[in-house]
Amino acid sequence: MNIPSQILTLLAGIALTLISLWYGQNHGLMPVQASDDAVAVDGLFNAMMTVSMGIFLLVQGVLIFSIFKFRRRAGDETDGPPIEGNVLLEIVWTAIPVVIVLVISVYSFDVYKSMGGFDPEASDDPGLVQVAMMPDSESNAAFNTASDTASAPLINAPRHHHHHSVALGIGASPETANKPADVTVNVLGMQYAWIFSYPESGITSGELHIPVDKDVKLTLKAQDVIHAFWLPEFRLKQDTIPGQDSELRFVPRRVGDYPIVCAELCGAYHGGMVSRLYVQTQEDYDQWVQSQVALKDSQESAKTSTVASLDAIADPTPNMGDRATTSPDPIRQQISQKFGIDDSLLNQVQPATPTTATPTTATPATATPTTAPLSAMHS
Ligand code: CUA
Repeated sequence: MNIPSQILTLLAGIALTLISLWYGQNHGLMPVQASDDAVAVDGLFNAMMTVSMGIFLLVQGVLIFSIFKFRRRAGDETDGPPIEGNVLLEIVWTAIPVVIVLVISVYSFDVYKSMGGFDPEASDDPGLVQVAMMPDSESNAAFNTASDTASAPLINAPRHHHHHSVALGIGASPETANKPADVTVNVLGMQYAWIFSYPESGITSGELHIPVDKDVKLTLKAQDVIHAFWLPEFRLKQDTIPGQDSELRFVPRRVGDYPIVCAELCGAYHGGMVSRLYVQTQEDYDQWVQSQVALKDSQESAKTSTVASLDAIADPTPNMGDRATTSPDPIRQQISQKFGIDDSLLNQVQPATPTTATPTTATPATATPTTAPLSAMHS
């Protein structure tokens, strides 16, 4: 024990720092990074992990050291020394957390901004018009004008089309601002499935396909209750809210398939409300779109029951994923297959709504027009 305690403390501090820095980069807690957003979010997470690890080691190290160093010795019946207050110590242990929290808040603000979290056009969120339940347009206008001048809470700030307020969701990043997205997909959350529709091609699917390295915009809606659209590999999660659109805009950087998870307890089969996201090369994506368009067309022409259209349907198209998604009532079918639940039971759980066609009725208005013969073929 010839080494001075200052040297030992210094060495312990260096070791603590190095371990924290290493662990902050090698905690292995995150899935792959499939977007630039993921890299940005992980940078913040790793920084917080580094700081947390440093504090953890410091606190636990002092604790364990003290347990041994200051333990009661045999035969020692005396009281410990009375210690009360240490102004310097209290200043230090207040100032350091304040600095840490400030740095993290600025950093996280920056990350959120780079992702597009402050894009005012992220959604056409009607804001207080709905929240305050004031359908009268004049009172709305009056209210909005009033709160424009007042310092209304940001989160409840009413939205104008050309106004600054916190947007709902992740919109355009500063680089993509004022540019239309390359691909737009409408996402509908419903008990208990995600439905994806592509306004450009008119196709509807139960799984999400997007081209890699393209600026993708998802418009999120909810049909019944609040769901949360979560893409773990993209570090993106956004609530879908009935009557209020939200948005996720991002650039997928990694070809592959990823889980889509509902992250809001939305009912009995919430745990089964999962889908897949396929990030594809432009060629594969185009091919998929074409196959879906072809399938849609063939289903429409199947109404005439021509041999040609039947052949087209019978032809198993690879890389197309879920055929059930284009058949009548894809949700019920998916769930009843997954859980072995009778379809009529699901009708009890969620009564059929006007937007979901019952399997035997071909409604031209729905996105999945089909006929009874076709559904019979699938089963
Ligand atoms: Cu939808 Cu949980």
